[in-house]
Amino acid sequence: MVWFSDLISLGIESTADNLGIGIVSSDHEVLANYVKIHVPLEGGIHPREAARHHSEYMGASIKTALNQAGITMSEVDIISFAQGPGLGPCLRTGATGARALAAYLNKPLVGVNHCVAHVEIGRMATGAVDPLTLYVSGGNTIVSGYESGRYRIFGETLDIAVGNCFDTFARAAGLEYPGGPDIERKAALGSKLIPLPYAVKGMDLSYSGLLTSITSEYETGKHSIEDLCFSLQETAYAMLGEVTERALAHTSKPELLLTGGVAANKRLASMVRDIAEDHGATPFVVPIKLAQDNGAMIAWTGIIAYNAGYRTPLESSYVNPSWRMDQVEIPWRN
Ligand code: ATP
Ligand code: FE2
Repeated sequence: MVWFSDLISLGIESTADNLGIGIVSSDHEVLANYVKIHVPLEGGIHPREAARHHSEYMGASIKTALNQAGITMSEVDIISFAQGPGLGPCLRTGATGARALAAYLNKPLVGVNHCVAHVEIGRMATGAVDPLTLYVSGGNTIVSGYESGRYRIFGETLDIAVGNCFDTFARAAGLEYPGGPDIERKAALGSKLIPLPYAVKGMDLSYSGLLTSITSEYETGKHSIEDLCFSLQETAYAMLGEVTERALAHTSKPELLLTGGVAANKRLASMVRDIAEDHGATPFVVPIKLAQDNGAMIAWTGIIAYNAGYRTPLESSYVNPSWRMDQVEIPWRN
């Protein structure tokens, strides 16, 4: 594989609520990683409202990232963007911005799979070489690992993501949004384990029953919020732990990588460390700025893909909201 030296990639991440603009160089340097956060006024994510936010702040966010990096647009060599999976309106806004930049500046365009990007920036940031990856966020719950040219999915949620379960419960119980951090703080003060549905089906998981059940337990008024959060967290993570452990045993991967916004959780990180230790694997937790959705991961994966020969012509730069990571060929891992 030819490695083009001295490339700078600008990456646009707009798969869900937040807009991320990252600038990364081919020598592994994150020059900028700006995230413009969008908090919905009520309920969960509103795709069209989030997309409006992204288009409103696209120009200013790109300028902020260029300033952070201390470069001008003319020094950027590649325009990378998250082409999927994600929410259609949000993805389309990012893709429109990327296409406009690429066409106007006459730079190559590289469409990147968001889930692959989480793995690649995780490997880059931690030095993990061939990890089994647990990617947990508001929209995704995936256990994956590289095998025969692709990132294979060994287990995933059949309905909602674990982070979405936390966020929706947090709204119902009047906790801070997003729910993960507040639930983690309260869980640390809880001790009573309320029985909740534990739904592991084969290697897959389901969180919708857990959400319904924890919400009705809250509504009974019988439990403290600390015990509710403790029970929710323990049950949700035990399910993740079981699937992750079985995938690790099955694949014999030498490393276990935790990423996604939920990777910020100390309890989950310590469970991941224990599982890795039991199987003689090295644990890695991706630092939060690169674990949550961010533009740097798109920029970095754009560089790797570009070096492996990937280009995304304008006419095939349409977004794919349900693009699975195991559909992407990964020639750079051969
Ligand atoms: P994606 O588009 O990949 O699904 P996302 O839009 O959900 O990502 P992320 O920043 O990756 O964005 O993840 C946000 C999620 O992480 C939210 O569901 C939030 O509750 C959860 N989270 C954040 N901090 C913690 C924590 N300390 N413990 C548990 N969950 C957390
Ligand atoms: Fe993500």
